[in-house]
Amino acid sequence: MKQLNFKGVNLPAIGIGTWHMGDNPQTYAQEKATILYGLNHGATVIDTAEMYGAGNAEKLVGDVLQEVDRQKVFLISKFYPQNATKEKMKQALSSSLKRLKTDYLDLYLLHWRGPVLLSETVAGLIELQKEGKIRHWGVSNFDTADLEGLYNLPQGDQVFANEDLYNLANRGIEYDLLPWQRDHQLPLIAYAPIDQGDSRGQELTQNAIIQQISHNHQVTAMQILLAWTIQAKDILAIPQTSNIDHMKQNIEAGSITLSAEEMKEIDLEFPAPVSKQSLRMI
Ligand SMILES: NC(=O)c1ccc[n+]([C@@H]2O[C@H](COP(=O)([O-])OP(=O)(O)OC[C@H]3O[C@@H](n4cnc5c(N)ncnc54)[C@H](OP(=O)(O)O)[C@@H]3O)[C@@H](O)[C@H]2O)c1
Repeated sequence: MKQLNFKGVNLPAIGIGTWHMGDNPQTYAQEKATILYGLNHGATVIDTAEMYGAGNAEKLVGDVLQEVDRQKVFLISKFYPQNATKEKMKQALSSSLKRLKTDYLDLYLLHWRGPVLLSETVAGLIELQKEGKIRHWGVSNFDTADLEGLYNLPQGDQVFANEDLYNLANRGIEYDLLPWQRDHQLPLIAYAPIDQGDSRGQELTQNAIIQQISHNHQVTAMQILLAWTIQAKDILAIPQTSNIDHMKQNIEAGSITLSAEEMKEIDLEFPAPVSKQSLRMI
C-alpha cells in the first residue's frame, strides 16, 4: 500500500468510505467485518459523517472501533453546514463522538459550504482542536475560490485537507483546483474514487483501454480506476464497499503503479480538462 505524508501525518493512499452503510440490520455484520478487514490490512483511514444514515454509519464505525486499537485509525467525520456555528458544531461533534464511541476525531470536515460565515466555522474548529476533541480540521466540496476565501481568514491556512469528488469520469478539478492545492501544499481526499461503482461506472470499466491495462496488471478494471486516482503523492482515496473481496482488491489497488505509457493511454481516452469546470458534488 502506498503511503502518503499529509502535512507530517503518515497515511495510506486508500482509506474506507462509509456512505450508505449501517442502515440494514441484515447486512450489518458483513459491513462490520468488511471495515474491520480493511483496518487490519492497512486501510487505516475511515471517512464517515453525521449525515450518513442519520448517524447509522457512525454507529457502525463505532462498533468496529471497539475491536481495534483506536490510535492506529485515522478517523474522519463531517458536520452539516447548518451545524457550522460554534455552538451547534460543539453539539454535533459531541453526538458524533458518542455514536463513534471515541473521545476524539483525527479530522473534522465541514461537509459543504452553507449559510454560516466561514470565519465563525474556522474559529469554532480551532476551539475544538485546542480542547483536544479533534486533531485536525478540514473542508469538503470546496472549489478554488472557496479555498482562496478560506486562506484569507485568520488561521484559515491551517486546513488539513479538502475532500472533493474525483475519479476518471470527473477530472474537472485538475484544471485549477488541484494545481492550487499543490501550490499551497493542501492534500486532496478523493471521494467516489470509482464513480460509485458499476452502477454508474460501467462506461469506465467496460472501456477497452481500461480492460487492456487491467489485463496487463492481472487485476480488475475497478482496481485500475482506483489506482489511477491515487497515482499522485498527495491524493488519498476513500472507496466504499460492503464486500470483503472488494475491500481486498481496493487495498491491493493501493500498490499498483501505472506506467507513464498507461497514464498517457488513459489521458487520450479520458482527457484532462482544458477549461474551468464548475465543481461537481454528490
Ligand atoms: N464529502 C462528500 O461530500 C462525500 C460525497 C460522497 C461520498 N463521500 C465519501 O466517499 C466514499 C466513497 O464514495 P461513494 O461511496 O459514493 O462511491 P465509490 O466509493 O466510488 O463507490 C462505491 C461503490 O463501488 C462498489 N465497489 C467498491 N469497491 C469495489 C470493487 N473493488 N469492485 C467492484 N465494486 C466495488 C461498492 O459496492 P460493493 O459494496 O458491492 O463493493 C459501491 O457500490 C463514501 O462512502 C463517503 O465516505 C463523501
